[in-house]
Amino acid sequence: MSNQTTYNDKVIKQFAIMTVVWGIVGMLVGVFIAAQLIWPWLGWEIPWLSYGRLRPLHTNAVIFAFGGSALFATSYYCVQRTCHARLFSDGLAAFTFWGWQLVIVGAAITLPLGLTMGKEYAELIWPLAVLVALVWVAYAVVFFGTIVKRKVKHIYVANWFFGAFILTVAVLHIVNNLAIPTSLTHSYPIYSGTVDAMVQWWYGHNAVGFFLTAGFLGMMYYFVPKQAGRPIYSYRLSIVHFWSLIAIYMWAGPHHLHYTALPDWVQTLGMIFSIMLLAPSWGGMINGIMTLSGAWHKLRTDPILRFMIVALSFYGMSTFEGPMMSIKTVNALSHYTDWTIGHVHAGALGWVAMISIGSLYCLFPRLFGVEKMYSTRLIEWHFWTSTIGTVLYIVAMWIAGVMQGLMWRTFNEDGTLRYTFIEVLQFTYPYYGLRLFGGIVFTAGMFIMVYNVYKTWQMAGRQTGEVRIVEPAHA
Ligand code: HEM
Ligand code: HEM
Repeated sequence: MSNQTTYNDKVIKQFAIMTVVWGIVGMLVGVFIAAQLIWPWLGWEIPWLSYGRLRPLHTNAVIFAFGGSALFATSYYCVQRTCHARLFSDGLAAFTFWGWQLVIVGAAITLPLGLTMGKEYAELIWPLAVLVALVWVAYAVVFFGTIVKRKVKHIYVANWFFGAFILTVAVLHIVNNLAIPTSLTHSYPIYSGTVDAMVQWWYGHNAVGFFLTAGFLGMMYYFVPKQAGRPIYSYRLSIVHFWSLIAIYMWAGPHHLHYTALPDWVQTLGMIFSIMLLAPSWGGMINGIMTLSGAWHKLRTDPILRFMIVALSFYGMSTFEGPMMSIKTVNALSHYTDWTIGHVHAGALGWVAMISIGSLYCLFPRLFGVEKMYSTRLIEWHFWTSTIGTVLYIVAMWIAGVMQGLMWRTFNEDGTLRYTFIEVLQFTYPYYGLRLFGGIVFTAGMFIMVYNVYKTWQMAGRQTGEVRIVEPAHA
């Protein structure tokens, strides 16, 4: 192919750097609230340092600031390279970057102040929610506009996943945030009672399915083949994976509302669709891992590839665990316990963070115009801190969670509870300590990454980074 295209790498670089920054901020808040669960006096009775305000700050920072920036960066990179076209509009792309950063800063101010909509993962007050919607529409225009002006006929499968993630998150966000403002910082949702809960968890579960899964699968479908230097294992499987995943995810939300006022048949429907979800999830995992067929030896020397393959393994693990936890009788044990927190972080640290970190290590040298990262050994160190940190975190929460569930339901012969709540809490402390340690280890790895990225940037010297020669689409 002889055509040469200039790409907009500036916005990708901005998002990539902010991914690392927000990752560290979000994880440090995670470490702090993990410490507060052991030493509740941490916070010194200052309202904006209280657990209830910092917890949503943690979830917003890691999901939307860290995960979101990673998704913007990788989707903008992938769509340009696979379409052989520059982003549809540089101005709109810049708006998505600055708008998104404004949302994050707004969240970092309002959440500690206690200003919240009170819906999990949709806490932001209405003016910020409106800004999110505007940024998201601009994102959709930039992404799909680039697809429309593509110079190759084929639309690579990673773009399908990114596209589904962008469209669905727009719908989820707008529907779940419909509210009537009463002041600049307060509003009432238009839904009430059980309907409100149902809409919230339709949103909540699909935020997992599309924000924390489909977008990162797009990342996987682009960067795993790229790093492995192999085509995706099965293109046919990727199509089946795509359609089955998006068809099934939508219906699984009620598994968050087992044993509530939600009609029983809706809960059962959610459970059945969650169990079915195992098949497409594992289809995707197998497709990613098997892409290494014939190149397994690369795992020995390439820690970036190891990040990606271990991420896929955690993805497989959490998507096995999720369907199991959606079975009503299992959920009766797991709900309200730290088992849920373990499941969340198997997905969040093991899958979302590790696939992002791996993809960023693949991306940074290309953005800086150098052959590879400053130090492979430091990537190796980061790989081990991430893996060990994740394992410590989730194993601690599994043990704590299952024991909590079992102790809460143990009765004496006269029908009274065998354990008081405080006794169960005391049993949990050592595991909270282990989780805190795992979190610190994981976060330490992020600082190693900062150093490595900084040295790579130094190595590259001063450059504008605006112009790139086209690479062949690897599909
Ligand atoms: C160093 C790393 C991290 C630490 C120490 C940490 C710690 C915590 C803690 C202590 C909680 C509250 C648990 C509770 O209320 O019992 C929490 C919740 C949560 N974290 Fe993290 N976290 C880390 C990284 C992440 C990352 C990278 C993500 C996402 C990409 C994430 C997503 C979440 C979510 C979604 C929740 C809410 C879970 C729920 O409500 O069930 N965390 N985290
Ligand atoms: C086949 C895929 C999956 C299924 C069927 C599934 C199912 C479940 C179930 C049953 C719960 C517990 C609900 C409760 O008791 O309240 C849950 C919680 C959760 N899962 Fe998954 N899960 C899956 C994959 C994932 C992945 C890959 C991630 C993250 C990347 C994830 C993130 C979460 C979060 C954040 C929560 C906590 C929600 C909350 O209560 O705040 N899940 N999931």
